[in-house]
Amino acid sequence: MTSEVRVSAPAKINLHLGVGQVRPDGFHPLVTVFQALGLYDELTLRPARTSSLTVSGEDVDVTAVPTGSSNLVLRAVEALAAHHGRTDLAVSCHLRKRIPVAGGLAGGSTDAAAALVGVDSLFELHTPRQELHDLAAGLGSDVPFCLHGGTALGTGRGEELAPLMSRGDYWWVLLPDDEGLSTPAVYSAYDLLGHHAEPEPPTELLAALRVGDVARVGELLHNDLAPPACSLRPDLAEVVAAGEECGAFGGLVSGSGPTVAFLCGDAEHAAYVDGRLQETLGTAPGIVVKAPAHGARVVGARVGG
Ligand code: C5P
Repeated sequence: MTSEVRVSAPAKINLHLGVGQVRPDGFHPLVTVFQALGLYDELTLRPARTSSLTVSGEDVDVTAVPTGSSNLVLRAVEALAAHHGRTDLAVSCHLRKRIPVAGGLAGGSTDAAAALVGVDSLFELHTPRQELHDLAAGLGSDVPFCLHGGTALGTGRGEELAPLMSRGDYWWVLLPDDEGLSTPAVYSAYDLLGHHAEPEPPTELLAALRVGDVARVGELLHNDLAPPACSLRPDLAEVVAAGEECGAFGGLVSGSGPTVAFLCGDAEHAAYVDGRLQETLGTAPGIVVKAPAHGARVVGARVGG
């Protein structure tokens, strides 16, 4: 009997985020290109009498993470147990957070993906992949991609995925921000900006990814949520501009922000851009990560007591 599993789950960035007019259900139709980042939260799960969650942070302020039943980790545990009609499945979870909270990097969503994978493995449920995907979509628009990882085209509200061919390594400098931005607030600010056309697939970007032209990908980064995020946080536009002046291939607000991300060609390039950003903006060192990365997966298990 497995007594403990450890799951690592990645942050994500949207290389392209096209957003249409709000739907009757309150969500927005998206055409987005997801890339999983080599920055992982780690969730450890053990069987227990009742489910619980504790959180610790590595260079991340975790005070904003709820540990009660509203946390996506515990909601994911419950959803998978209910799916299998099991009232006896409960886990004590410990989450080591490395992904900035409310940063536009899908930190909360990826923790939910980790919980689905972890509970499935711990209790040997063998849930078919499609069923895990459907449960993930019920928990949040980004959760299916966090299960999937790699590079993928997301449509619908982001939950319909098609894997994309991508060559090469993508190095990012991430500049997190102490103050998180609320995703619904950014979408509401987007609605106020006027009527929005149906989003289209970014064909040039997809071609650059296929051949691994990282510099061209940098030029083609696009986020429809950047204007509303910047309307709530005008300083973000200056940060994006500074990164481009500091030699990055391109920069953008990540998802609904406020994390700003800069694309570089290799580790040395990223270290150079990171150093120049610190000089220019007077900020702390950024987080340098490589992409694309794997989806949520078990990285360790203990058998027996
Ligand atoms: O799906 P998720 O729970 O991550 O979404 C959080 C919020 O972001 C939603 O309640 C909605 O306000 C907004 N959202 C949206 N359109 C999407 C995805 C998210 O309006 N496609």
